[in-house]
Amino acid sequence: MGTEREDNQQASAVDDGAAQQDAASIADVSVEVATVDHTLQKLYRKYRKTRRKPKGLKRLWAHLLNVPHLALIIAAVVFVVVVIVWSLLWVFIFRRESNSGAYFAGMFRLANVEFIPEYRQAESHEFVYMANKIQHVVSNVYKMSSVARLYKQTVISDLSNSDSGILVHFWMVFVVPRLKSPAVCEECVGVIFRDSVHTSLRNRTSVGYLLGLPVDIDSILINAVQRSDYTSNTAGSQCVDKMYANLPGVKVPLNIFSSWGGVSCHVKLTAVPGSLIRLTVNLFLIEPSDCVNDALTVYDALLPMRGRILHRLCEPVSGSISLVSTSNVMLLSFRMTKGNKTFRGNFEAIAAEICMSQIETQSGSGISAQIYSPFYPSLLPPQCSCTWRFETSNSALGVALQFQNYVLKPKGMKACDHGWWKVNEVIFCGSYVGHSTVFRIYDRSPEVEFRCSSRHAALPFQASCSSYNISQPCAENHFLCSTGLCVEKKRRCDGLDDCQDESDEVFCSRPTMKCGGNRPPHPLFVCNGETDCTDGRDEINCTQETTCSAIRYQCRSGSCILKKNAKCDGVHDCEDRSDEMDCACGLPPTVKKDGPERIVGGVNSVEGEWPWQASLHFSGNMYCGASVLSSDWLISAAHCFSKERLSDPRYWTAHLGMLTQGSAKHVAEIQRIVVHEYYNAYTFDYDIALLQLKKPWPTSLGPLVQPVCLPPTSHTVTDSHRCWVTGWGYRSEEDKVLPSVLQKAEVSILSQSDCKKRYGPVSPRMLCAGVPSGERDACRGDSGGPLSCQSSDRGRWFLIGIVSWGAGCGRPNLPGVYTRVNKFTSWIYNHIS
Ligand code: ARG
Repeated sequence: MGTEREDNQQASAVDDGAAQQDAASIADVSVEVATVDHTLQKLYRKYRKTRRKPKGLKRLWAHLLNVPHLALIIAAVVFVVVVIVWSLLWVFIFRRESNSGAYFAGMFRLANVEFIPEYRQAESHEFVYMANKIQHVVSNVYKMSSVARLYKQTVISDLSNSDSGILVHFWMVFVVPRLKSPAVCEECVGVIFRDSVHTSLRNRTSVGYLLGLPVDIDSILINAVQRSDYTSNTAGSQCVDKMYANLPGVKVPLNIFSSWGGVSCHVKLTAVPGSLIRLTVNLFLIEPSDCVNDALTVYDALLPMRGRILHRLCEPVSGSISLVSTSNVMLLSFRMTKGNKTFRGNFEAIAAEICMSQIETQSGSGISAQIYSPFYPSLLPPQCSCTWRFETSNSALGVALQFQNYVLKPKGMKACDHGWWKVNEVIFCGSYVGHSTVFRIYDRSPEVEFRCSSRHAALPFQASCSSYNISQPCAENHFLCSTGLCVEKKRRCDGLDDCQDESDEVFCSRPTMKCGGNRPPHPLFVCNGETDCTDGRDEINCTQETTCSAIRYQCRSGSCILKKNAKCDGVHDCEDRSDEMDCACGLPPTVKKDGPERIVGGVNSVEGEWPWQASLHFSGNMYCGASVLSSDWLISAAHCFSKERLSDPRYWTAHLGMLTQGSAKHVAEIQRIVVHEYYNAYTFDYDIALLQLKKPWPTSLGPLVQPVCLPPTSHTVTDSHRCWVTGWGYRSEEDKVLPSVLQKAEVSILSQSDCKKRYGPVSPRMLCAGVPSGERDACRGDSGGPLSCQSSDRGRWFLIGIVSWGAGCGRPNLPGVYTRVNKFTSWIYNHIS
């Protein structure tokens, strides 16, 4: 438009110019005769002058259309379009997204407020009235707080009867601009509520009055939750059920089926006030998937609060298990995907146990009584306590408690994770182990106090009590182990871990090979596959049936033979021939081994040399090693999976048949990770885990992917064995780059006493291997990978160790520490077969 006006102005300027010219010509030529022809000519001139104007435009166009200008225009247009699109996106998508909801579930107790049965119905006037009142008070707290602008709403979900008051469960929603989300952190939200109750505390009690509402400050708990928790639990959700146990001791059946379509259901259980709830699971049919697809989470509250998880069931249950709450409410949160899934069980109100007893132990060595953890055989709740007072018949006798799978150790700096014990004023911590122990108290009338201290429900325990002679704890000819057990003196230094902590096998001189005389050779040398006596007497009658022990090979029939390494050695040793069954393992294809020596300590492997070696990647990054056990199971170290995200199988992949990182023949997804139940993250004891693949690896990978052989419990490594550690871990302590080619290093196995000399506390489940200079060792990144040993040149390879820990890497006299695999043979078979 602007251009048009300019043109007009231009045109009129031209007209004016013409007029002036005409005037001038009149002035110059005094007489001028106006003729038609003249007029026409004038008009034509005028017309031509005005016609010159489009010629100017044309020029303008031409000017504009030349290349640099065109580029400028296009840039401007693009700029305008981008600005418009960006503004639209901002308004409709980002602005909306940048305000996200922050959801919380909370609970607190209203003290001294009478509970009426109508509160159980969320539709009743009474509930609505009370809920409005509470909601008003909670809203008030947050509307007056620093997060007032973000606060959206509080929804009271349940009012239940708790001892002399009402237990309130509520949801809270904040609308938070993305950048401000830290302002509504879980802790901040809790502190705001607690602070306002705190300022209103009265009369040195724990009860504060918020607008007249008596809130018990000690009962406040607020947890951040997922949006899906909120939506699946609140109004509109199809699957929230409430059930009551109104009579103590009466079992209320609980049966849930999901034949197809899958369910996500919440069942809220409430029992009579003052009681606790015992949930019994008789049958739970689901697909084991590490809680990813199917799971039952049991909460010690009525809302899914993380801080209140009692127990999670992620594997099928066929025997019965039970667990107990810490109050009269419990929430069962089921997640069951498509397929036939079933839950069968019941719940009941039980009385809070007063666990206190007086036990008199009879003189004599027999067992006089049993003590049980509270609610035995139910799992232990996070809170409980018990006191036992013992009395022996005379002051020379102390009290011995024999546990099946539990041990008491003096408390250190750390809090007790699995039970807090006070024995005559001295504090001990309990932990679970895979063997029995005896705890001796040098006192005739000790008081023993126990308190639950696990974060979730824990395994129950049981102990038999007896009295023992304080001056001579073990019988004649017996030796006292550090585990408290007594073993026959002749078993000391016999190469067998009779004490369960090897305390009978320390300070032993190296067993010497005495082949002469009438005494039989040392049990370690008997039938170990090597001729130690010149006359060969240590290797005769090895397949003769004999009594069983950990150093004898057990055939499938149950009978035992002396031969230690009978499994898959190519000779039929067992009568039932079972020692040569399932032997498709540990035989790599013949490969030419000419890898160039490249790094200190290790050398490159060759393709197909270690077909059981796997590389475990977490979120796409190399993280640990593993070994192939079968077509769908791998074995690795527990410490690779010990933190929260690391235990989620969805983040992991296993790279199989690989020599160079990135060139795997097969990448497998992980279905399930089974970490040993006694794994101890502080001591690295029981550092073992199994990984189940989603799908078996293709058999066509044959020679390049193959299982390693699992050693039987009796398996022993002798001097003729060759052991190699393999992995893609760092090549030295200071290394910053990981090797891309699989490294291998030959190491030798140290005796357990040498291992203890280097490191001190090494458990029987650990094994040391290395070279004295330290030059050859595993390092960070090798964890979980194999220590494979071969008995002879053409023999099969067995998985003897799993890379676990070490002091630095490759330091002189500090060997690598491995998980001793033959201690876990039955644990492994129990899971994979
Ligand atoms: N824990 C280490 C890992 O996560 C393995 C350490 C082995 N150290 C040694 N010196 N052998 O990879």
